[in-house]
Amino acid sequence: MAKFFRNIFRKNVLTQVQKMHTDAPIVIESTSKNDTTRAIYARKFVYEILPLLEQVSNQSRYGYHGLTHTEQVAMFGIDLAIAAETDVLPVVLACGLHDCARKHDKYDELHGPACEPIARKFLAEHYPNVPQPTVEKIVQAVKNHTTGRQAPDMISACLWDADRIRLGWEYGYRPQFMSTPRGHQLASLSPQDQNTYIADQENFLVRHHIKTREQIEFEKACNMAQNATKFKVR
Ligand SMILES: [Fe+2]
Ligand SMILES: [Fe+2]
Repeated sequence: MAKFFRNIFRKNVLTQVQKMHTDAPIVIESTSKNDTTRAIYARKFVYEILPLLEQVSNQSRYGYHGLTHTEQVAMFGIDLAIAAETDVLPVVLACGLHDCARKHDKYDELHGPACEPIARKFLAEHYPNVPQPTVEKIVQAVKNHTTGRQAPDMISACLWDADRIRLGWEYGYRPQFMSTPRGHQLASLSPQDQNTYIADQENFLVRHHIKTREQIEFEKACNMAQNATKFKVR
């Protein structure tokens, strides 16, 4: 009987949480300040961080856990960091580095810890001005992204949510794995709203001359060719 009431309570609470999140706007609130911040970090990721990552990452360029996945996680991370009003650069760096030791698409909890030496070297070489306490937070966020549940700070919270939104879209929203209000909102979007979100993101990148429409379509085709059965291309 206790289990019955617990389940009813849980269902009601989750329904309220989902309603609260889905009532908020899906796309990033388009103030000129947010737009500028989003464009600055999206451009920084695509033109500065990603080419540097390509030199050190074990990931393939395309495919389920390829660098296009990393780029999508970075774009989600920018959204989450803006929504949480936290410093965006550490979140983007953590997103960029989070799967750098991944060599395959099989279930593998060890690729998080395996990223640590690559991440430390990368940050020391290319981002020496990031303060050491922030470096430690980025490294811990990357190291623990596979198994972490209680995020110790906003860098971990934004990275873990950014990486788990796709799981919410593909396997269903599981609130116990999310850490930020915006993460809850995005992970629980309906398939129709997911499409709206992705279309808005693509339009944003084109409008700000960060990517061309042809580039976006080419990358989708490459992802589809490399991982036709698993990667959801919209
Ligand atoms: Fe991962
Ligand atoms: Fe990932």
